[in-house]
Amino acid sequence: MKDVMRLDKLLAALGEGTRTQVRDIIRAGRVAVDGMPERDAGRQIDTAKQSVTLDGRPLVYKSVRHVMMNKPGGVLTAARDKKQKTVMDLLPPLYAAMGCMPAGRLDKDTEGLLIITSDGQLAHRIISPRHDVGKVYFARVDGPLTGEDVSAFAAGLHIDDADGEFDARPAILDIVRSGENESEARVRVTEGRYHQVKRMFAARGRRVTYLKREKIGALALDSSLAPGEWREMTDEEVSLLEQEDREEENA
Ligand code: URA
Repeated sequence: MKDVMRLDKLLAALGEGTRTQVRDIIRAGRVAVDGMPERDAGRQIDTAKQSVTLDGRPLVYKSVRHVMMNKPGGVLTAARDKKQKTVMDLLPPLYAAMGCMPAGRLDKDTEGLLIITSDGQLAHRIISPRHDVGKVYFARVDGPLTGEDVSAFAAGLHIDDADGEFDARPAILDIVRSGENESEARVRVTEGRYHQVKRMFAARGRRVTYLKREKIGALALDSSLAPGEWREMTDEEVSLLEQEDREEENA
């Protein structure tokens, strides 16, 4: 979105109501620009320079938005879908209106850290394998895990299944608990192919029964976010994502 826009469009973009509702609010004299009441809905506002209040409350306009979500199971990672609920349906319409999109995909049944951003460059950095951003997943599988699995993940698994064939990059497998019928582990991968983690375990004869993304680069999921909850990212969190990229670009 541009920095200069009509007052009614600005209020609507900030989620203060529909265009009709915000025009009524403006006509009622509840909005002030640089401290002076403004009743003209068409007034052009430079959001970088002018301050706008509603009932005395400052409205903070950001041209870029970054959201951290704990994606719940059962929801598609997509901008929209005719039939199924998507992660964008969990956010107020403001975010879609500002061009926010999920940065990468988690399967419908996968939970955990998902970044939704209006910054295409940031999204590209997260997704592109060229940038090598590590992603850490917690996985539960249907049988034991051993040191041989750790070595096989580290060597780089050869995947050859119904979805195709590829050599996975070396990955770190950290076994949390191994049991005859069920095991838990953390996996760090640096690529995000279709069903990547599930296919890697399948290549070792294990089926993933639960998968959650815990980290992207140096950014960890806020543990206070329950599945389906989200919040805007802090500047520090955004710079964590940029930081790791810079280190790797210099490497
Ligand atoms: N790997 C998978 O198999 N599924 C995901 O959702 C993410 C990584």
